[in-house]
Amino acid sequence: MQITLETRNYSEIETEALVSYLFEESDPVQGQLDEIDRGAGGLLRKLVKGGEVSGKMLEFTLIHSPQGLKAARLLLVGAGKREQFNGAVVRKVTGAALRYLKARSVKKFSILALEKDRTEEFAQTVAEAAIIANFESDKYKTDKKNDKSIDTVFLVGYSDAGKSAGEKGLATGRTIGEAQNFTRDLVNEPANKLTPKILAEKAAAMGREADLAVEILDEQKIADLKMGALLSVAQGGPEPPRVMVLTYVPANVKPDLPVIGLIGKAVTFDTGGISIKPADGMEKMKYDMAGGGAMLGVMRAIASLKPNVKVICVIPSTENMVGGKAQKPGDIQTAMSGKTIEVLNTDAEGRLILADGITFAKQLGATHLIDAATLTGAIVVALSNVNAGVFGSDQAFTDRLLASSKAAGEKMWQMPIDDDYREFIKGSVGDIQNIGSGKGGGAITGAMFIKEFTGDTPWIHLDIAGTAWNDDQKPWMAKGATGTAVRTLIHMLMSY
Ligand code: BES
Ligand code: MN
Ligand code: ZN
Repeated sequence: MQITLETRNYSEIETEALVSYLFEESDPVQGQLDEIDRGAGGLLRKLVKGGEVSGKMLEFTLIHSPQGLKAARLLLVGAGKREQFNGAVVRKVTGAALRYLKARSVKKFSILALEKDRTEEFAQTVAEAAIIANFESDKYKTDKKNDKSIDTVFLVGYSDAGKSAGEKGLATGRTIGEAQNFTRDLVNEPANKLTPKILAEKAAAMGREADLAVEILDEQKIADLKMGALLSVAQGGPEPPRVMVLTYVPANVKPDLPVIGLIGKAVTFDTGGISIKPADGMEKMKYDMAGGGAMLGVMRAIASLKPNVKVICVIPSTENMVGGKAQKPGDIQTAMSGKTIEVLNTDAEGRLILADGITFAKQLGATHLIDAATLTGAIVVALSNVNAGVFGSDQAFTDRLLASSKAAGEKMWQMPIDDDYREFIKGSVGDIQNIGSGKGGGAITGAMFIKEFTGDTPWIHLDIAGTAWNDDQKPWMAKGATGTAVRTLIHMLMSY
């Protein structure tokens, strides 16, 4: 899909559809829409009076052959209340408009930037939203919905003076949107098409192409490093585990900046192991590698956006299976850090593999850690599929992430991890146990377990179990993998 700036006036443009948003207020026909209304003989205000157009969030009004315009269609999209307008609204409106038009076989359309929108940031947001909205989860359909994909979006309203800022925004937005779709593609893959080995091959191919340093650790190397927690999960099935390490080094490393370690859970299928999951809905456990998938999308984007910080990405990957060699509840495992773990529930496997991923990232020189994982069903109970859970051991570091989540339009909510929760995972036989002792707070328990391996290193944990997957499509996004956390983490890395 092409996304380009169009500096001609909207009235000059022959386009399949001209899209404009409008606000829910007493007179939604403002600014350029007022001009369009006059050209169209008062049609817009007539529609407002008749109650057909109100500006309510995601209200669509499609007008064919609008008078006074060369556009074949005018699409009005409600953007809700003016006071609540922000980047998240731009994303919804742009994405939903694209999907609305593509369902009607439109191939090229133009979006009108209103006066105050003509910034680099707006162009970036529109590009991200359009690229994300154009993606379909239909790779394995022989009858492809995507045959209807949009091939060109023109952003209208930028003058010659604002053109370079607009173009810069479009380029950044494209990189970020494509990175998010790269993640969604990986996360949508079924487990027979994406084993740890295949994921590692894809990570290596991406890293090579993006010019990142890549190292793939195989089962031998993983054993040499004594990653006992990861190996304990992997022993349950025949597919060997992998650990992917991708490194981005900025051109001029500034000594006072942190080295960020990104650790992503990549369980390519989670049966639960001997503590097996119910059959109903188990097929969704192919998305249990969404944390690792998100980190790969982030690495792909920063390779071209080039932030000032060094980033070390560590992705432990395995299946969680129920073979004859599978670990059993009560087994004691020794993590890479040397801590002993009593595995009381083999379905709490994500925290096990992250333990070794975090130890390894620290050993490689990370001074700050961020992990992302589809870790607990409990975070879905707490926050549903609206907010990702954020846990942090260093408030200044966590605040930076929360600010980035707002800026990137991905909802996240901070959860507590005070020391009072420490006793939940105190071991009776080993140093720690991998589930809490029946006191609720399942998402916090998972975070507390991971925290044990971070030591004094500032650390953030993102529990994305609720936000990584859409069961149903949204007006602005296809169903399936969402690519959650990709934009927030890119924004945060770029903020240094
Ligand atoms: N991968 C699951 C968590 C999950 C649940 C992800 C729902 C996506 C949607 C994780 O490995 C798991 O099984 N967690 C257990 C932990 C429990 C045994 C302490 C859970 O949440 O039930
Ligand atoms: Mn599990
Ligand atoms: Zn899992």
